[in-house]
Amino acid sequence: MEELKEPDASASANSQRLCKLIRDEILRNQGKLGFNRFMELALYEPGLGYYSAGAYKFGEPGDFVTAPEISPLFSRCVARQCCQVLGILGQGDILEVGAGSGAMACDILIELDQLGVLPEHYFILDISADLRKRQHTLIQQRIPHLMNHIHWLDQLPEEGFKGVVLANEVLDAMPVHRVQISKDKEQEFFIKTINDSFEWCLDELSDEQLLQRIIIIRQKLGQDINNIGYSTEINLAAESWIRSIADIMSRGLVLIIDYGFPGREYYHPERRDGTLMCHYHHQAHDNPLVLIGLQDITSHIDFTAIAEAGHNTGLAVSGYTNQSHFLLSCGLMELANITLDASGELSLAKIKQAQEIKKLTLPHEMGELFKVLALTRGIDAPMLGFVLKDDRGRL
Ligand SMILES: C[S@@+](CC[C@H](N)C(=O)[O-])C[C@H]1O[C@@H](n2cnc3c(N)ncnc32)[C@H](O)[C@@H]1O
Repeated sequence: MEELKEPDASASANSQRLCKLIRDEILRNQGKLGFNRFMELALYEPGLGYYSAGAYKFGEPGDFVTAPEISPLFSRCVARQCCQVLGILGQGDILEVGAGSGAMACDILIELDQLGVLPEHYFILDISADLRKRQHTLIQQRIPHLMNHIHWLDQLPEEGFKGVVLANEVLDAMPVHRVQISKDKEQEFFIKTINDSFEWCLDELSDEQLLQRIIIIRQKLGQDINNIGYSTEINLAAESWIRSIADIMSRGLVLIIDYGFPGREYYHPERRDGTLMCHYHHQAHDNPLVLIGLQDITSHIDFTAIAEAGHNTGLAVSGYTNQSHFLLSCGLMELANITLDASGELSLAKIKQAQEIKKLTLPHEMGELFKVLALTRGIDAPMLGFVLKDDRGRL
């Protein structure tokens, strides 16, 4: 791996403050902290965590690029899926969870405005106070005339929510437990501190639910488990998030877009070190114990677990496909309208757009690894984004 870029003095000082806070919590907890809690502090500790401190994260100047930052076409396609559901419901709201820079909210509202189906409210719920401020600034700049539709929430709305809930690359940023499974033993990874640095250690499982998930993982791995041990993540926070969304949803769609696989592929013998990834200045690596508070930490999504969590709380699993098929089903190519200019050439803008479409849809870019899951309540119609291909059978 290429050497990671040195942080500047102010970023280092921020990281050191966060490390001290984590070390103090480790000392208060008999010398160890579950990885899920470590990840929560590293990403979301107010004022210090990666998502809660002031650094720029998205796009070229940041650490990673998400689909809404690549092209407005992505959000326009999502808007078309929202349009179908708002049309069926007659009236409804949109709730975007984890809105990042605010780019997706802007492009969705622009598209829905053009289609003449604006939601009553466009709610944004984001755990990061810093990102909420940035979203406000961007939205105010780009769509001041639609500002009155947008409301920032501090918690999920009350029961009776009718409309669409959107989560693009949010579940992968939720704190995960890390476990190690071997033939006759299962243990959890914790973080301890030695000479001011952090190290992994293994101990007994901290939560009964982990054992239940490990029983399922063992079934998926079959005979392939060996004595060396299989390390992986379990995202209980994402499952619990789905249950809380199901609790408030009276009618509508929950659309989850993220990178991941069905359980059988996720918990595959070959993926024996799990899927934990860190992103720092467009470099990806797998060590979350460095650059604390300065790098993103993510894990892939087990879409089977998410679909089951939704199903168990009364939501219908209404579609599952990859990002490429979802966007094409929502009319990506019609929206792109790639035509030649008067001189029979592709304009520069259209060439740029064609490159963005490739990034969003090609299998070795985002097209295959990113999946889209639709969970609904009280809607019978097939969802627009899954008409070309629906892989629910693979979940
Ligand atoms: C990887 S970023 C994705 C941002 C944006 N959706 C995009 O695609 O560019 C994750 C976002 O989710 C937010 N987030 C993470 N966990 C959350 C939670 N439990 N509730 C609300 N927001 C959350 C973060 O603050 C951040 O805005």
